[in-house]
Amino acid sequence: MQNLFDDLNPPVRRLMGPGPVEVDPRVLNAMSMPMLGQFDPHFTGYMNEVMSLYRDIFQTENKWTMLVDGTARAGIECVMVSVVNPGDTVLVPVFGRFGHLLSEIATRCGANVVAIETEWGTVFEPQQIEDAIKKHQPKVLACVQGDTSTTMAQPLDEIGRICRAHDVYLCVDATASITGMPLPTDEWQIDAVTAGLQKCLSGPPGIAPITINDRVAELISARKHIEEGIRPDDYQAADGEMIQSNYFDLSMIMDYWSPARLNHHTEATSMLYAARECARITLKEGWDRRFARHNQTSAALVDGLTAMGLQVFGDLSVKMPNVTGVYIPPTVEGDKVRGEILNDFGIEIGTSFGPLHGKIWRIGTMGFGCRKDNVLACLAALETTLRRNGHSAPAGAGIDAALAVYNNPDHPSIAGINAA
Ligand SMILES: Cc1ncc(COP(=O)(O)O)c(C=O)c1O
Repeated sequence: MQNLFDDLNPPVRRLMGPGPVEVDPRVLNAMSMPMLGQFDPHFTGYMNEVMSLYRDIFQTENKWTMLVDGTARAGIECVMVSVVNPGDTVLVPVFGRFGHLLSEIATRCGANVVAIETEWGTVFEPQQIEDAIKKHQPKVLACVQGDTSTTMAQPLDEIGRICRAHDVYLCVDATASITGMPLPTDEWQIDAVTAGLQKCLSGPPGIAPITINDRVAELISARKHIEEGIRPDDYQAADGEMIQSNYFDLSMIMDYWSPARLNHHTEATSMLYAARECARITLKEGWDRRFARHNQTSAALVDGLTAMGLQVFGDLSVKMPNVTGVYIPPTVEGDKVRGEILNDFGIEIGTSFGPLHGKIWRIGTMGFGCRKDNVLACLAALETTLRRNGHSAPAGAGIDAALAVYNNPDHPSIAGINAA
């Protein structure tokens, strides 16, 4: 008989890497709900609810706020291939691996890509971005908000205004930062935002929430082609160039999410349930409490690591609150320590890429996983494992420093917020 292997019984982990992170049990529960047909009125009702919930998540009035099936890069690719015509200039400020991903995707869309780079661990001044816009006159500025590869977050509050002034479309990848730090899409004049569930939203990877404003919707409508077999009687193809992907043709995806409910792909039912629950949980918590929780945990982790004699990576004034990079002490082997923390303590922390590979570990504290017990467990595991690898830290100092942050009701990380 064919080997049917063991029952699926994965170990329970604290997922404290840069993502995916622990899924909120309420989300897992939502995913076990019965399947519905994709045109069942109950299901299309849930789709409308998802649109409404994600308008609040993205803090936008954008009508076109929906889900793209696939991991976070599906959302990026969908917006990019639908907005960028071959030959268009796309400017990408690169401050980590995911800036390179935006450049790569834009290149595949046939864009003339101009990348400006800054050292990993730093971000750009708005003036640098404006200067590059003036010089290269792009159609699109594609920018990551929080780049998990470096743990840095690009301040975006001035970038939308700059883009509008130069008639540039601003597309933001907020996969790693969404709901861990503020992103008021409309207030910051961002034209398109893409995200994923597997970071602060604490869902599984596999579906990408996106929002686009009317400026972008207009561009896309000008390229609208509907596939044969589902065309309405009065169909007339738009004059613009056909979007070079069927799966990521946003004009057809918009038709499916509109009252027309024109068939495109088969919607990923259970992932839509997950996305809906992730948004509900987030919005129930409220922005103030949520951001305070992430800031407080970040401060506790940073102080804990520092008290252990470790050095936190990058410009701390622009560090993402939900991921922390820490230099690997030169006397230990980074991957060996990570492996022991996983095997002995069931805690996953991350390695890094490119110029930071082997130099820093990355510790995620996101959404459901952004908890005091996780921080304390991680610091204890790190202290013990480092000692066993010949690098000693003052006993208990990391945990004491983290607790000092949590026990201080006036700590600046939660300034002005009732963190009870
Ligand atoms: C900032 C950022 N953008 C994009 C991605 C790609 O997401 P996915 O692996 O879900 O396609 C990630 C994943 O870590 C990310 O952190």
